[in-house]
Amino acid sequence: MAVGRRVLIRNAALLAAAQGCARRIDPARVISAPEDSAGHVTIDAPELRANGGSVSVHLGNGFVLLVANVEGTIVALQGGCPHAGCDLTWVPEDREVECPCHGSRFSSDGTVLNPPAATDLGTYPATIDASGKVVVTFYPGDGTYPKPDDTGKLTLDLASYPALAPVNGYLLGRVEFPPGPLLVMRVSPAQINAVSAVCTHLHCTVRPKGDGARLHCPCHGSEFGLDGMVLNPPALFNLDRFATSLSGQTLTIDLSKKL
Ligand code: FES
Ligand code: FES
Repeated sequence: MAVGRRVLIRNAALLAAAQGCARRIDPARVISAPEDSAGHVTIDAPELRANGGSVSVHLGNGFVLLVANVEGTIVALQGGCPHAGCDLTWVPEDREVECPCHGSRFSSDGTVLNPPAATDLGTYPATIDASGKVVVTFYPGDGTYPKPDDTGKLTLDLASYPALAPVNGYLLGRVEFPPGPLLVMRVSPAQINAVSAVCTHLHCTVRPKGDGARLHCPCHGSEFGLDGMVLNPPALFNLDRFATSLSGQTLTIDLSKKL
């Protein structure tokens, strides 16, 4: 019977490890950088001025970014592994991300390549200026929602969002304001809920489950009610829920006001 290429590669890796000659992946240097009120993270690290350099950036909000220089282009990815939260490492020879804890691998665009991680990494736009200073946009919109005003008020004309017309209809996307990933759900003819889609366990993105009665995290199975309350662990904390008001066809979500 033919032996698959993947099996051969895995066996070679296991043999190398058993012989004590597995390639050692150096962890990225860890630095701290807060996000500003507009969600920008400014990083001044010499590693990012050279091809292949990387740093692990711990933000003040519990998130980690892995930032790397790939032939002059800066890539910024979710830096906490979606398997069990270890800090990820950039592997410059392969232009890939590896988890030092249990070996998950990801491509430079965040796509998961090898388990045990089962979900892709989030990615963030980043720029580098002539002095080598890097700015990462931590709350990039993805076009699902309009841009909120400076105070975090998000206004939707429901005529443009037919997905929210039926009960159990929902929108899931990234908004240019904290929390970034946002779920907006029609829970009854008269009520629409808006909750953070960032799982409070290890930051994976939650989504409605098949029956529409609860939210589910694909990483480790946490479940939440449509109001953001935790129903099943490992998450211990509720999702942030934001104030909404519905007037005719206009929905207003106040992202600065948590319920
Ligand atoms: S924590 Fe990354 S593979 Fe387990
Ligand atoms: S990230 Fe672990 S259950 Fe959501």
